[in-house]
Amino acid sequence: MTDMTAPKALVAGNWKMNGLKAASAEISKLNDLVNENGAKCDVLICPPYTLIGTLADLGAENVAIGAQDCHMNISGAHTGDISAEMIREFGCEHIIVGHSERRADHGESNETVKAKASAAQATGATAIICVGETIDEREAGDAVSVVTSQVKASIPDDATADNTTIAYEPVWAIGTGKVPTAGDVEEIHAEIRAVLETRFGADGAKIRILYGGSVKASNANELMSVPNVNGALVGGASLKADDFYGIISAYDEIG
Ligand code: 13P
Repeated sequence: MTDMTAPKALVAGNWKMNGLKAASAEISKLNDLVNENGAKCDVLICPPYTLIGTLADLGAENVAIGAQDCHMNISGAHTGDISAEMIREFGCEHIIVGHSERRADHGESNETVKAKASAAQATGATAIICVGETIDEREAGDAVSVVTSQVKASIPDDATADNTTIAYEPVWAIGTGKVPTAGDVEEIHAEIRAVLETRFGADGAKIRILYGGSVKASNANELMSVPNVNGALVGGASLKADDFYGIISAYDEIG
């Protein structure tokens, strides 16, 4: 049943380090699929930086283009880094920060993630702040405490429903085909919602909380129907337009 107070769902694709210029055909196809069949959610693709310009220039009106990370500073001597301002120049409105692969590969702390989220928000972008527990943390019974402390420490104080989205991505579910039970997702999302409402009041009720980790067309309906799940952050199944549209169309039934 549709919860009329819930924020409009967002189905976002994170292409990670995948995609060459030819992948723009998938965006055109996805745009056509949404155009022909509709979408009851917002649709976003976050390609690697090298493709942002190419994909933004396609002008696909049904597919927003975003980024996977940004630097915490707006400019300066940071070789190889990209700032939120540079990303915004292409019309991108969403920037993922704190993905577990960046936390692991680049040692990003909650403090770093918070600074990056602030940098994104300062340019008018929405920061998609990722959190999630490892398998060891879940098996130790610490999933709730790990995730809620990540949310508390990674989210800037001036977060609003417009400039912030949270993505809960259990590390052990990413790229593995394993997904938590609907009950486990419900528990974590409710705990995140409670943190947001305690800190941000009415706006905390409107901040989107996405689920990510092995989402595909066959499990999207079940996962996206869980209370306080306001969309998905999708890796592998976002690379092909048909697969990704299968997730988007789960919202036809959910409403
Ligand atoms: P998969 O959908 O490939 O599991 O990746 C999830 C993810 O990390 C999205 O950010």
